[in-house]
Amino acid sequence: MQRETWATRTGFVLAAVGSAIGLGNIWRFPYVTYENGGGAFLLPYLIALFTAGIPLLIFEFAIGHKYRGSAPLALRRISEKWEWLGWWPVLVSFVITLYYTVVIAWAVSYAWFALTQAWGADTKGFFFGSYLGLPDTFWPTGGLQPSVAIALILVWIASFLIMVRGVSEGIERANKIFMPLLLVLMLIITLRGITLPGAVEGLNHLFTPDWSKLFDGKVWLAAYGQIFFSLSVGLGVMITYASYLPKKADLTNNAFITALANSGFSLLAALGVFGAIGFMAQAQGVPVNEVAAGGVGLAFIVFPQILNSFPALGGLFGFLFFVALVVAGMSSLISLVNVVAQSVADKFGISYKQAVIGVHVVAFLGSLLFATKAGLIYLDIVDHFINNYGIALIGLAEVVAVFWIWKIFGPLADHADSVSDFRVSRPWLLLSAGILTPILLTVMAWKALAADLA
Ligand code: PHE
Ligand code: NA
Repeated sequence: MQRETWATRTGFVLAAVGSAIGLGNIWRFPYVTYENGGGAFLLPYLIALFTAGIPLLIFEFAIGHKYRGSAPLALRRISEKWEWLGWWPVLVSFVITLYYTVVIAWAVSYAWFALTQAWGADTKGFFFGSYLGLPDTFWPTGGLQPSVAIALILVWIASFLIMVRGVSEGIERANKIFMPLLLVLMLIITLRGITLPGAVEGLNHLFTPDWSKLFDGKVWLAAYGQIFFSLSVGLGVMITYASYLPKKADLTNNAFITALANSGFSLLAALGVFGAIGFMAQAQGVPVNEVAAGGVGLAFIVFPQILNSFPALGGLFGFLFFVALVVAGMSSLISLVNVVAQSVADKFGISYKQAVIGVHVVAFLGSLLFATKAGLIYLDIVDHFINNYGIALIGLAEVVAVFWIWKIFGPLADHADSVSDFRVSRPWLLLSAGILTPILLTVMAWKALAADLA
């Protein structure tokens, strides 16, 4: 079967950047930075970027390009007996789509709520009570929550309409619209955030380094975790995207562009979000750290509160913010769905289109669990295990296999060099990705496990 290719050189980079930039940049990066020493976190973050993020990106691009397949097919071509390892990221990607779509659905609803000012003064009660309909019990699920389910259906329909057109007509064209749109939205949001009264306080808080945190192992682990999740490495996403590249394509260059665009975008988002948090602190006369709650709460509870007290046009900025979340989320979602669809198509000899239809039906049904009244409870649990074990363990397996089991580190680097303008440094790859990263990842998984068992 003829494999589709990207129509243009920028199409691939935009798709890779689209996958990388996601919900993780807009709400996760700001609060992870804040919780891990503010300005001091940037050092471990940059070290993680250059010792693990970029090397893995280069390897994943090289694997996909050299072996021309989704993760399972590429691994089968490396060695028959390792194909099963390639199905692991496919399974994790599939599970992530089930709740990633639900968070995008919340953002769709909230874009609408922003315009209609639907959340009122009690934004917490609105989110957990009126919107999610969270029950006191874990089981039974309490049935579908219609407000969430309707938005979820819209998200899946949008994903289907993009993907059924295939790689270049669907994914590539969508990202060519999504990425410029997202950049414009984010520039508007950031400019507004940093020019709000009190913004400086928030930015001070974000960037005042707490140097003592540098000696805290958890901070380093958080930095590596954020880099893996944020760059979409370890899930076969970048392997699959690179498998659609034409023969000549500068892999190394594209890896650097993707990584820098992703981090630049994270920085932009952090500025905007913390500017707004500083504004909120000043308006309410409370310290900044009392406003800066993390995770789900930041986007869907704290942000609506901030918008409520906006000097002007709060509804419009709220709308733009949630639309930015939707766009960032959709471009990451299609990269995850693509991993599953392409892997199934590669394995069972059905067409890409048939695989896309099948994956959408099954994943839609699965995602309904997270659109029930108890959905948030399940979402928290599944997300915790995916983040702590799923992604880190696959990343660990990947570097150990490349360097120490298959020993294809040299050939992969040669392959990247053969299509690139510049040569990647072998000592850098070996020391950082081959030695340091496996040690750190082992510690990360071990510590997370110990904390869960305690
Ligand atoms: N990188 C995306 C983000 O930052 C999340 C993601 C992870 C997407 C893995 C695809 C694969 O939100
Ligand atoms: Na990201």
